[in-house]
Amino acid sequence: MASNYVVPRIAVVGLGLIGCSWVKGLRDRAAVATVVGYDRNLDSMQEALRVGLIDDFSTDIQQVVRDADLVILSVPILSMRQVLSDLKPALNDKTVLTDVGSVKGSVAADVGEVLGFGFSRFVLGHPIAGSEKSGVAAADGNLYVRHKVILTPEEHTSPDAVALVRAAWEVVGADIEEMTVEHHDEVLAATSHLPHLLAYSLVDTLANSHENKEIFNYAAGGFRDFTRIAASSPVMWRDIFSANKGQILKTLDLFSHDLAFLRHAIEQDDTTTVMGVLTRAKVARDHFSKILARRAYVDPMKTATVNYIASPSGALSGSFRVPGDKSISHRSIMLGSLANGTTEVTGFLEGEDSLATLQAFRDMGVVIEGPHRGRVTIHGVGLNGLQTPPNTLYLGNSGTSMRLLAGLMAGQTFDVEMSGDESLSKRPMGRVADPLRLMGAQVETAEGGRPPMKVFGANKLSGIHYDLPMASAQVKSCVLLAGLYAEGETSVTEPAPTRDHTERMLKGFGYDVQVEGSTVRIKSGGELTATNIDVPSDISSAAFFMVGASIAKGSDITLEHVGINPTRIGVINILKAMGGNIEVLNEREVGGEPVADIRIRSAQLKGIHIPEDQVPLAIDEFPALFIAAACAEGETVLTGAEELRVKESDRIQAMVDGLVALGVDAKGTEDGAIIQGMGAEGRFAGGDIVTHHDHRIAMSFAMASLRGSAPIRILDCANVATSFPGFVELSNSAGLSIEQKEG
Ligand code: S3P
Repeated sequence: MASNYVVPRIAVVGLGLIGCSWVKGLRDRAAVATVVGYDRNLDSMQEALRVGLIDDFSTDIQQVVRDADLVILSVPILSMRQVLSDLKPALNDKTVLTDVGSVKGSVAADVGEVLGFGFSRFVLGHPIAGSEKSGVAAADGNLYVRHKVILTPEEHTSPDAVALVRAAWEVVGADIEEMTVEHHDEVLAATSHLPHLLAYSLVDTLANSHENKEIFNYAAGGFRDFTRIAASSPVMWRDIFSANKGQILKTLDLFSHDLAFLRHAIEQDDTTTVMGVLTRAKVARDHFSKILARRAYVDPMKTATVNYIASPSGALSGSFRVPGDKSISHRSIMLGSLANGTTEVTGFLEGEDSLATLQAFRDMGVVIEGPHRGRVTIHGVGLNGLQTPPNTLYLGNSGTSMRLLAGLMAGQTFDVEMSGDESLSKRPMGRVADPLRLMGAQVETAEGGRPPMKVFGANKLSGIHYDLPMASAQVKSCVLLAGLYAEGETSVTEPAPTRDHTERMLKGFGYDVQVEGSTVRIKSGGELTATNIDVPSDISSAAFFMVGASIAKGSDITLEHVGINPTRIGVINILKAMGGNIEVLNEREVGGEPVADIRIRSAQLKGIHIPEDQVPLAIDEFPALFIAAACAEGETVLTGAEELRVKESDRIQAMVDGLVALGVDAKGTEDGAIIQGMGAEGRFAGGDIVTHHDHRIAMSFAMASLRGSAPIRILDCANVATSFPGFVELSNSAGLSIEQKEG
């Protein structure tokens, strides 16, 4: 029969919620011409006919199935074999069959027994959707919209049959995934069957207790939320528990073991262990909620697209604090975890990069409370107390996490794999793998020295002297951290000063570190002793406002409590050399790091040749400085900055392209750029900016709007959350006009 219908004729066997909702979805979308129904219960068939869900029914299953293009079997799992035997004589050689059961192994066996092993037109399927409601009346044509449907075709299943079933699911809005029968049953045992079993069992226990009346009278949210699914169909679940017995018992044993562990910790008043279970579970549940909302933190690039529309705005004003320093936040988690005792961190950056580090240490068994308003409590496990993580450590966008962890992991007794998002997967890791191999570590990277990276434990490390081939604090830190585990002394000489937070913080944790000129030395055999860390505001985040206030006429802002470590203040030096009006006030030291309030007023900047010795000291601030250069009088030349090409994006190219798109005369060179300033009255044209998902490119062009003549549309800004949560809100309260659009 030629038609536009996805399926001309459907037979639905079993008129429960799942089958009826699929049929209703197909009907609502005019994807089926005729539906015939069968159910053991005559009332259900009559009701389905009355509400227009089916066109006809019969008490003879063979009559229903005959001539159907697709037979949907929505029957309790243990009835499957009988139902298949009953309908078999009516099957022609084109009819495709599918089911919707929660267990696939037993259905595959039934199909084989009854229709023959090698029967090619049965497509095993399972929609991951449902409700504790049942029956024809509950049918919902939108039940499957954006829900997963798992198909488990076997080797002998016909591709045409799979295509038909796929199409019939896709038309009702489902997302289709394929996996093997065995994998399906294992995953579902854990994610669905065990929770149902626990819910039934808990309600039964409580209902049998002599205080049951009290319990049901006062049972509020917790009981209700946890046990909702115990109201599902007992027949269906009896069948599932029995059909997937092997896998269910396996996950039940695992759960019983963990429950006994938690019981023991409570009995022993071991509050740290209890806290460990609860914090790990909370993080996992929060993560799951984000996945449900399609906002998974694990891969912001794939899930949420965020664009900024930055409209021309006036001056910046006010006194405010930008979030905590990213480099120091990473290190506080690492060293706090490896210390003996409990470390309290305040001012911690709750950005995705430092959270990736935090999660990695949780995965390695460290109990970490928070973060809550920048406060984190780390229950250190000592230098040798980390445990094998259950999975690959996923480090998102964060190069610092991967490179520093590589050094630490080389000293462990277990193997670790580390991976990252699209941007991190393109970044060079050979620079840390090389010295680690010289120390005796076994390290594997993907092609071209890129992530994922595998570091094998149980290799004896020996101290080395390493002359850094590039000025990189990440490589320096990686080698020093491996040095904590290497026999003898490890030393590093750097070609130019780079941030020294690792060295300072090691000292803060009571570890002996020797610094002599450009060489740092460390010996193994020491211990880290827990301490408290106050993380200053990140000068790299402050830099956007320093540039913004400099270029926007009439601006006057004060950035509070900013870290001014001498290895980080290149941005202040460079802006001052360009004529910036910057005052460093109220200098003090907090936990081994210098801190100050910084006042910036607008000034007419002038172009300069940026001194090369300032480059490593301002390495993350160049995207912002390019905007300053574009607003200056005259030419700005940057040289010696080839490292910018291997940051979260090729920052030279990304910035030059963006400036050109906004009408600025700029060009990239191998190791820098030449930018012709627009001068006092110059304004950026409107245009689109491609950020390459790089947070700093996005924030820099947001600042350009202070001197815009038309809106600047900045694409793919979701990764601003890696280093500067709340950037748009803070910017707008200071005087910018950024609209955030999620797409
Ligand atoms: C960092 C070092 C720098 C910097 C990065 C953070 C650190 O990287 O760009 O944002 O925390 O050690 P390199 O070491 O690659 O220069």
